[in-house]
Amino acid sequence: MEINIGLLGAGVVGSAVASVLLEGKEDLGRKIGGAVRLKKILVRESERQRSFQAPPGVLVTDFREVLNDPDIQIVVELMGGEEPAARYIERLLVAGKHVVTANKEVIAKHGPELSARARSTERQLSFEASVGAGIPIISPLSRDLLANDIRSIRAIVNGTTNYIVTRMAMDHMAFDDALLEAQHLGFAEADPTNDIAGTDAAYKLAILASLAFHTKVVPEDVFREGISSLEAQDFRYSQELGFAIKLLAIAHKENGSLQLRVHPALVPQDHILASIDGAFNAIEVEGDLMGRVLFHGMGAGSESTASAVIGDVIEIARRLNLDIKPLPMEENSRSIAIAPMSELVSRYYFRLNVADRAGVLASIAKVLGDRGISIASVIQKDADLPTQTADLVVTTHPSREDAVQESIRCMGELDVVRKVSNMVRIEDWPSR
Ligand SMILES: NC(=O)c1ccc[n+]([C@@H]2O[C@H](COP(=O)([O-])OP(=O)(O)OC[C@H]3O[C@@H](n4cnc5c(N)ncnc54)[C@H](OP(=O)(O)O)[C@@H]3O)[C@@H](O)[C@H]2O)c1
Repeated sequence: MEINIGLLGAGVVGSAVASVLLEGKEDLGRKIGGAVRLKKILVRESERQRSFQAPPGVLVTDFREVLNDPDIQIVVELMGGEEPAARYIERLLVAGKHVVTANKEVIAKHGPELSARARSTERQLSFEASVGAGIPIISPLSRDLLANDIRSIRAIVNGTTNYIVTRMAMDHMAFDDALLEAQHLGFAEADPTNDIAGTDAAYKLAILASLAFHTKVVPEDVFREGISSLEAQDFRYSQELGFAIKLLAIAHKENGSLQLRVHPALVPQDHILASIDGAFNAIEVEGDLMGRVLFHGMGAGSESTASAVIGDVIEIARRLNLDIKPLPMEENSRSIAIAPMSELVSRYYFRLNVADRAGVLASIAKVLGDRGISIASVIQKDADLPTQTADLVVTTHPSREDAVQESIRCMGELDVVRKVSNMVRIEDWPSR
């Protein structure tokens, strides 16, 4: 039986997928056990020059040409953005088509309804490429790790921000220059707001946590803080303290509730996540049976993403050829409370700009001590003679987030403190 495929979008990823489907047909056919044909590709502008040679009539600009084509069994959505992608996927499932997507925004925001639709129409909705591009993580969480009670996920899932923090740490680059370079190299989008603010990582964490903890996590459940407050000094001081700075996405189950957060974090230099540099991604999953396992690789890019997309297509096509129904997707309907961020207990790093005179430390220690925060280390850095100020770097023992936020406000009001320049959480779980 010939399997016909429809593709929505022929941009960065869609073009790579189209090339594999058009040029690698024979190899794919062998893996699938039958012929495959890319029958239609939906784009906005059919006249635009593409990096692949589309056979005549394949490029279309009307979604209904894909939706209403009775030969098309599998549709790959690679348009990106929430709408119309989410609406199109829903309509395709209702029309009886299997859908593969790389769209993290759609899956993070609409995954539960779309999965319910796929269950009710007995169709498959696959989204391996939505997190970590070609790094296999959706399939392991949905299948291979199911025997485990997952305790935590700690991940670097945004290549743009990881590239920026790597360049700031290793080459002492300023934030804006590192961002410009990432855009030049094609890692960062023209509008990088979602990456920088941690929104993209929050989408991906919502998807991973839903699968790992069998519950419905939406992006709003995830606390998020981006990387724009990081400055050169933070990288310098944290290196001296034995840490790297990474934008982490963390889901952690403790006392029956789920902590979900995306923020920059100080990671011990001997932990494996500290060594994930540049545009690479890594996802560490900890379960009760298998302990910690790390998934690592190129987490963006056309070919890496195409690898996961085509993998999903092959899986569905093989089932179609063997006439096997898709396994109904799990409902992820367990109810788990989301722990408020104010209850987080963590270690903290503060960088303060203070008056360079006696008694400063005592005032700061009092503010912290009054709120039950115990100081782990203090170093004074970069004294500036003309202004008679210096940087003070303070790290704490485990403390509560609400007490820390209150202390930041109170320290900012001290006349010896010019500015509380930054606060970064320290994630110093045991290394392995
Ligand atoms: N790029 C990556 O490294 C990467 C990694 C993992 C996941 N993803 C995900 O993969 C998806 C695609 O990303 P991309 O980087 O390939 O995007 P892109 O380069 O912006 O391409 C989008 C494509 O969709 C078409 N399109 C957009 N809106 C449309 C509409 N309303 N009707 C018809 N066609 C429409 C565009 O048509 P025209 O060409 O005619 O403009 C274009 O071909 C996104 O969900 C993204 O999050 C990307």
